Amino acid sequence: MLEGTIIQVLLIEDEDYDVRRVMNTIEPFRDRIVVRDVVADGNRALALLREQPDSYDVVIMDFQIAGGLMGEELIRGIKALDSTLQIIVITKMTINITDFNFANRLIGAGAFWYGTKYPVDIEDYIYQPTDFLLSIFNAYQKKELETERRRSTRKFARTIDRLLEQKQLLGTSPAIQDLLRQIRKIAETSANVLITGLSGTGKELVAQNIHYLSQRKFENFVPINCGSIPAELMESELFGYEKGAFTGASTKKRGLFEVANHGTLFLDEVGELPPPAQVKLLRVLQEGEIEKIGRTDKIKVDVRIIAATNKDLGAEVSTKRFREDLFYRLNVVRIDVPALRDHREDIPGYIDHFLAVFCEEANRPIPEVEPAALKTIVACEWPGNVRELKNVLQRLLFASDARITAADVEIALGRRARKPEEEFALRLGNGEAIVPWRQMERTLREKYFRFVRMRSASDAEAAKKLGLAPPNYHRMCKELGIK
Ligand SMILES: Nc1ncnc2c1ncn2[C@@H]1O[C@H](COP(=O)(O)OP(=O)(O)OP(=O)(O)O)[C@@H](O)[C@H]1O
Ligand SMILES: [Mg+2]
Repeated sequence: MLEGTIIQVLLIEDEDYDVRRVMNTIEPFRDRIVVRDVVADGNRALALLREQPDSYDVVIMDFQIAGGLMGEELIRGIKALDSTLQIIVITKMTINITDFNFANRLIGAGAFWYGTKYPVDIEDYIYQPTDFLLSIFNAYQKKELETERRRSTRKFARTIDRLLEQKQLLGTSPAIQDLLRQIRKIAETSANVLITGLSGTGKELVAQNIHYLSQRKFENFVPINCGSIPAELMESELFGYEKGAFTGASTKKRGLFEVANHGTLFLDEVGELPPPAQVKLLRVLQEGEIEKIGRTDKIKVDVRIIAATNKDLGAEVSTKRFREDLFYRLNVVRIDVPALRDHREDIPGYIDHFLAVFCEEANRPIPEVEPAALKTIVACEWPGNVRELKNVLQRLLFASDARITAADVEIALGRRARKPEEEFALRLGNGEAIVPWRQMERTLREKYFRFVRMRSASDAEAAKKLGLAPPNYHRMCKELGIK
């Protein structure tokens, strides 16, 4: 029985005679069960628990004690301080030994166990000793389990916090702040959500934020791109099948609805969902059950649906390409993600953020963006929104050194080609921005490597021209952030 553990007990009992009886009962296990403190009133007990948190495993308390705070109120007070503490209540025999409601109320208030004291003439035991001792050991085990559960919940919560940090929706503009407010509100509910917005605006990011801020955050977030799965596979992908459901079904397959059970299913590009799958999905949303292929009974599922589209789904409905009834089921809550051109004031912040991230990844210093370059970037139309901005910034880093000029931006945007003399030219500027030698050395190496690679048919040829052994060439490319 729990070898090697020592159980710390707080005893709340106001009659010395009963304190002695408790001690007598646990006497055979006094090396394993230690009554660390004995107090005679409820307030003193709570004060002690506050002063010395995590010092006890089990509280044994008399139901009726002097001093006001007692009974269910005291049980609730103790549980509020530390919900993992387990409480065993002992009462006078005169309080109905057959009163089930009474016992139930104690358990309802948070007690772990309840026993009635022996008549006063029995000095050796407080109540049936094996029953009493076993309940202490059981209480200890429950305390351990709950402590472990609390620990893993906290660990999980920290992981989720880190995830949310990585998936942070950036932007200080009113448009983004309003979006964040909507996300927080929607995360409190389990309603289905339809996210609309142009390509690259951050629809998937919004979906992830809703999920990881919601009650379902510890469950799965399962994305599926409705446009990328062939129509004939859609059903088995969503609902799965049983072994032998059709020729070729040699094992059973879990559908995404099962994987996402209790969590969130993200239907990306929902406008691409083939008509037969639309019918099936509608039925699941209406009935909360899925029909697995090759199985007669239905399976209950609890899945939140977040759908996204960059199409005008309303227009798809009027041209009958998308089912109206399904549209209404998905469109319970609607979020419109703004286009980048509608919150240009966020662009400078995005540039700073993404350049910092990319440079950190490539282990290189962050270049300076000249004011004219910044102006050009902010003024862009950005049809591909934040995703396009990220791509352009990556291209800019590729082509420039310590400074990003307006000409660099024009080239990265594809508005004009780089002139041959600009291609790998070393720009030393007007002497204002002198960079340390180490940084310039790196720039030189990188430019020269790119220059040689552009003029070679393969990495092997480039390595040969540079007079480097291929492994060394590859290592240096990696260090320089050249793919
Ligand atoms: N507000 C934002 N803050 C930080 N990153 C963002 C923001 N909006 C978008 N992004 C980034 O831009 C890229 C595109 O975002 P996402 O994939 O969510 O867009 P989407 O709307 O789903 O695009 P598509 O319609 O093409 O599927 C991602 O790398 C995402 O992290
Ligand atoms: Mg997307």
